[in-house]
Amino acid sequence: MRVLGISGSPRRGGNTDLLLAEVMKGAASKGAETRNLILNDLKISPCQHCDACFEAGVCRIKDDMQMVYSEMEKADRIVLASPVHFLGLTAQMKAMIDRGQALWARKYVLEKPPLGDRRERKGLFIAVGGMKLAHLFEPSLATVKAFFTVIDVEYAGDLLFPGIDEKGAIKKHPTALKDAFAAGQRLVTD
Ligand SMILES: Cc1cc2nc3c(=O)[nH]c(=O)nc-3n(C[C@H](O)[C@H](O)[C@H](O)COP(=O)(O)O)c2cc1C
Repeated sequence: MRVLGISGSPRRGGNTDLLLAEVMKGAASKGAETRNLILNDLKISPCQHCDACFEAGVCRIKDDMQMVYSEMEKADRIVLASPVHFLGLTAQMKAMIDRGQALWARKYVLEKPPLGDRRERKGLFIAVGGMKLAHLFEPSLATVKAFFTVIDVEYAGDLLFPGIDEKGAIKKHPTALKDAFAAGQRLVTD
């Protein structure tokens, strides 16, 4: 069982990274092999809508997204983690998702499995935001759910924490880190 964690936060060791680390520890505690990617450390250009991927489901932009495609193909579980930036996902996460257009092309243009095989894959979403707004996570949720649907990853749930703003504030939350560890365990065992 391989679990791929992808952080979209620019703040290293911030709230998103702390939660993602706990999810991955939980998954590892149940025997999963884990790999974490920090999108802010990678070079991922925005999709150019050139439609080159319609030929063979391969993106012609040769940057770090090529490695991300390959890690997703190998993964049984994918954890996307992003803070809210201007009521949506971070630019880092959105650029990665938009490059999923090549996976969209594999599925809807070429009628092939988007991640190369038809094994059961599941996905978890983690998000934090500074505000305490009723619909704070809805734009992010809509995008992440659309992405998971396109790449044939079953939505396994989410961990959403509003009112978390300062770096490390998530550590003061009464249950968040424990919840994240348990969610990582369930992601592997359920
Ligand atoms: C550019 C930018 C935009 C933000 N926009 C929002 C927002 O629209 N709503 C919100 O609740 N928090 C917003 N925040 C606050 C972050 O979501 C919050 O500080 C979060 O805890 C950061 O998580 P991190 O430590 O994982 O990066 C924004 C922060 C930045 C830097």
